[in-house]
Order: sequence, then structure tokens, then C-alpha cells
Amino acid sequence: MKLLITGGAGFIGSNFIRYILKKYPARNASHSNAGGPDYHIINLDLLTYAGNPENLKDIESNPNYKFVHGDICDRKLVDSLMPEIDLIVHFAAESHVDRSILNSTDFIRTNIIGTHTLLESAKNNGLKRFHHISTDEVFGSLELNWPSFNEKTPYDPRSPYSASKAASDHLVRTYFHTFGLPITISNCSNNYGPYQFPEKFIPLIITNLLENKKIPLYGDGLNVRDWLYVEDHCAAIDLIIHNGRIGETYCIGGRSEKTNLEIAQKILKLMDRKNDQIEYVADRPGHDKRYSIDFSKIQEKLEWQPQTSFADGLQKTIEWYKNNPSWWKNIKSGEYQKYYAKQYGKNGL
Ligand code: NAD
Ligand code: DAU
Repeated sequence: MKLLITGGAGFIGSNFIRYILKKYPARNASHSNAGGPDYHIINLDLLTYAGNPENLKDIESNPNYKFVHGDICDRKLVDSLMPEIDLIVHFAAESHVDRSILNSTDFIRTNIIGTHTLLESAKNNGLKRFHHISTDEVFGSLELNWPSFNEKTPYDPRSPYSASKAASDHLVRTYFHTFGLPITISNCSNNYGPYQFPEKFIPLIITNLLENKKIPLYGDGLNVRDWLYVEDHCAAIDLIIHNGRIGETYCIGGRSEKTNLEIAQKILKLMDRKNDQIEYVADRPGHDKRYSIDFSKIQEKLEWQPQTSFADGLQKTIEWYKNNPSWWKNIKSGEYQKYYAKQYGKNGL
């Protein structure tokens, strides 16, 4: 079984590759995997600012893992990989809302044109399965007392990022309805955990506090997100690619809604810092008020639910950032890009 993982050098993709290789070890490994599937993973990643080979250093030499440096928009390259692939799990994307507000060009290119390139190649090569990783942001913004998003919620994206992801979801569905490509889609809420790029809220808070810096809170700090530990997201994707129904969408969430102020205060407490390290700053334009996911479909159909409580997940995440200072310091200083530019050339931003 050959899996093509796109964007596997990013946050969720690298966690997913590690999850799969651990759960389904190579047959020739010492802890034999008798009877289990033998997965060979190809990780196709452009190594933009968000991609970091360091995220997979520990599995570089795994015989079932291969890295291909390249762009999902490169049709020739994608076509050359496709004939040997059984299943695609498509993570590659521009993923940060604030960057999409500053300049959305790369979002349109990678998230829409890149997804289209993969779909065309998959269709022409008779791919057996295409799983598309998407986001709850495609559904728009909820008021505090509105019901949670579910698979039937109409799309209402409100940032260039979420609009580009919504477009990619629509394209994926059309390749199922029009061409019979065997697809599934998952729309997940906010993830957190190890290897998350420190521009995102939770790792930004943790690393700023470790550097004795202030933590920026947008607007009144009362926007709400539904947080999920990244390993729980990986477990849900694993279930969908094995047992999910072709053509269907699954919403994935953490049942853990928190205001940004609550998150900041919890981290300050766990790291033994004072609330005066919070700095209120200008709000994000078009800032979605609240996301919330009703995940009863995947719970009923595939027996998935989050296993990690927010308290445990947050503690583990803080420990990881405390124990891996060179990982995030190299990112914050830009050193990681200089190092990998020598090996792979310069890409992206
Ligand atoms: P990330 O920004 O950490 O990683 C994205 C990866 O894609 C990077 O390794 C980058 O180098 C790669 N990439 C970007 N453009 C590429 C291109 N043209 N060709 C090949 N590779 C390219 O993102 P993430 O947070 O890990 O998110 C992964 C996916 O999950 C995205 O599709 C995102 O929309 C979705 N998602 C994220 C969250 C979240 O909370 N982070 C929640 C729900 C859904
Ligand atoms: O909901 C899923 C989405 O979650 C994913 O699709 C996106 O890829 C992912 O980036 C994330 O989007 P958000 O915009 O919700 O995440 P972010 O970490 O950027 O912000 C979380 C909340 O914290 C949001 O309400 C904005 C706020 N925030 C963020 C930053 C970076 C601050 O208050 N201060 C900050 O400095």
C-alpha cells in the first residue's frame, strides 16, 4: 500500500506520518507487524516557510518513508508519482489566516490550483482513494448561542484562507460526482500540539513566554475556538481512510470550546507567569467570532472521539516546547530556512 502524503513536512502532516509509521510499523522492523498493512509513505512537500524537514528527523531513515521535495502545482512531478500511489492524504496548503489577509496569492495557488492538479492527475491515473484535509473555517462564523457546525452546514467562508479551502472542498466533491473519483473529506477544528509553527496562537503564546515576551491578544480576546490535540486528529484521519464511506464528509472537533483569553490565562498559569504579560492588540480584520463542531457523525459511524483532554494536551504541548528550544528558536530566528536552503534550494516566502 503506497500513500502519498502532501504537506507532510508541516505541523499536522508530520504528526500524521509519525502516527501511521508507529501504528503500522515496517514488516521487517524488529517489532514485527504480522498481518498488518505495510505502508510505504511518500511525502511530497515544497518546504515553504511552514515546511521543516526537522519535523521528521527521527524517521528520515525509516525504510518505509521517502521524501520528495516539490510542488503540488507541478503537474509533471505529480503525474510521475501518481502511478505508484494507492491513496493520497492531502494536507498541503497555505494555512495561516493572518498571512492570507496580507497576501492571498499563494493561498489561491496552492490551495485551489494545487488541489486541482492533484485531482486531475488522480482521475487520469485511476487513483483508488483521495482524502482531502479541510477546515471548519469553510462554514464561517457562529454567534455564541448558535448551534455547532455539522456536515450539512452551508459554506460561508470569510477570509481568503477559508475561501480557498472552501473552493478546494467543492473541487474535490465535483471529482466524485462528475468523474467517480473515490474521495472523502474531513473538516476539522483548531489543532494544537508538538511541531506547530510558532505563528499560530498556542505555540506563539508558549514560545513568547519562554522568551519573556508579551503575548498578543486580538480585539477583546473573546473569540472562541474548538481545540483538538493533533494526535486525535491523526486518529480520526486513520479511521476515515480505512473505514470512511466514499463521497462522504466527516466533521472533526475537540468538544473543547475556549475563548482566546481563557487559553492565554491557562497557559500563563501553567507556566507560572502573571496576567500582565497579556497585551491587547488590534483585531484581525473579519475575525470569525466562534467555531464549534458537532462531530456526532464520525462518533456514530466510525466510533471516533477525542482521547486527550484539553488540560492534558496543553500540558504535554508546553512540555514539548520547553524540551525542544532549538526547534522553535531556529524557526523564530529564520536559521532553519538558511540551513535547509543549502540542501533543497530556497522556496516559498
Ligand atoms: P502547515 O502550514 O503547518 O503545513 C503546510 C505544509 O504544506 C508545509 O509543510 C508546506 O511546506 C506544505 N506546502 C505548502 N504549499 C505547498 C505546495 N504548493 N506544494 C507542496 N507542499 C506545500 O499546515 P497545518 O497546520 O499542518 O495544516 C495542514 C492541513 O490541515 C491544511 O490543509 C489545513 O488547511 C488543514 N487544517 C489545519 C488545522 C489547524 O488547526 N492547523 C485545522 C483544520 C484543518
Ligand atoms: O479552525 C481551523 C483553523 O484553525 C485552521 O484551518 C487554520 O489552518 C489554523 O491556522 C487555525 O486558524 P485560526 O485563525 O483559528 O488560528 P490562529 O492560531 O491563527 O488563531 C487562533 C485564535 O487566536 C484566533 O481567534 C485569532 C487569535 N489570535 C491569534 C494570533 C496568532 C490572537 O489573539 N493573537 C495572535 O497573535
